[in-house]
Amino acid sequence: MAHRVTLIPGDGIGPEVAQAARLVLDAADVGIEWIERSAGTAALDEYGELMPEATLEAIRSTRVGLKGPITTPVGTGFRSVNVALRQDLDLFAAVRPARALPGVKLRHLGVDLVVIRENTEDLYAGIEYGRGSPEAAALRDELRALGGYELRPDAGITVKPISVNGTRRIVRFAFEYARANERKKVTVGHKANVMRYSDGLFLSTALEESRAYPDVAWEEIQIDHLASQLAKDPDRFDVLLLPNLYGDILSDLCAGLVGGLGLIPGANIGWEYAVFEPVHGSAPDIAGQGKANPIAMILSGAMLLRHLGELTAAENVEWAVDEVLRRGEMRTPDLGGSASTMAVAQEVALAVTAWEHGAS
Ligand code: NAI
Ligand code: MG
Repeated sequence: MAHRVTLIPGDGIGPEVAQAARLVLDAADVGIEWIERSAGTAALDEYGELMPEATLEAIRSTRVGLKGPITTPVGTGFRSVNVALRQDLDLFAAVRPARALPGVKLRHLGVDLVVIRENTEDLYAGIEYGRGSPEAAALRDELRALGGYELRPDAGITVKPISVNGTRRIVRFAFEYARANERKKVTVGHKANVMRYSDGLFLSTALEESRAYPDVAWEEIQIDHLASQLAKDPDRFDVLLLPNLYGDILSDLCAGLVGGLGLIPGANIGWEYAVFEPVHGSAPDIAGQGKANPIAMILSGAMLLRHLGELTAAENVEWAVDEVLRRGEMRTPDLGGSASTMAVAQEVALAVTAWEHGAS
């Protein structure tokens, strides 16, 4: 086998879309050996943990993973598995392309955006103190001593750290990505006028680093204004470079611009490891019904192929998805059709195989 890849089916619709993506990637025939490992609810039963060490170890050994969504139990004290995975493997860059696909009814045609999101810092760093906890009380005292800030005694606290080094690497990543993918412009979103020392640092670091890339245009824009501009005129944007929280929110907005969560792939990339996953969650409302759109997961698989250096196979899979959508007969309910997850995957896999035969 040419490539070893850790496959994490995940929760909810995860196993369904993982099986679908596997079918398509196997049709692309680049010799992937799948190492299947559990995370999420499945792992909780088996290991008593949402993200078992055995699963992290498998990713460290194969260096790449394809992952389905994982349900984060709310208010149970579990750290989000996704946040933990990104931090433990230092997958500092999330890449989420939102491209208008053929045959999908859209308000804005021709959208072709890529969100690059910082993945380890900001309000998602996981530094939190619950209301009424001794830590929150100690922090209140400290803030009072430091600057006379008076927090309400019933406040919960989440800390927003943004560092120069954490920002520098994501800025360079975004500009290198723009260069490598022949993109023309990087737009940095922020709220530096209000959060001077966190977003302000993100912005000033971006400005500094951008000087090394005179061939790529860049602009900065306040995050709220960016949201309105994206809704109104998304064609004027190309690569969006965003701190963690804004990146999370606006990547769903961009998904909405091009037909919904069922279509948007993603990658989490670090210096050593990379984990590919759709932007969508575990969709408990439709889980187990064979209704989930597998395209986001299949296109995440295409990103994985590209990362592995299998450029022709990646293009083949992307072309096959376009082709099936263009024909318009096989669509899941989120796109107005009635086809099942596996029926769509089989159609895409057939197109992949046909392309290979046509090409050879
Ligand atoms: P969600 O993305 O799971 O669902 C939002 C809506 O989009 C639902 O109506 C769902 O049916 C629909 N949808 C999502 N993916 C679809 C697909 N492939 N095909 C058709 N329809 C699709 O977001 P929600 O409901 O906020 O989160 C559910 C769970 O997923 C939560 O526990 C959340 O923490 C987790 N989650 C996990 C992520 C990950 O593992 N990377 C990312 C986002 C959420
Ligand atoms: Mg999200």
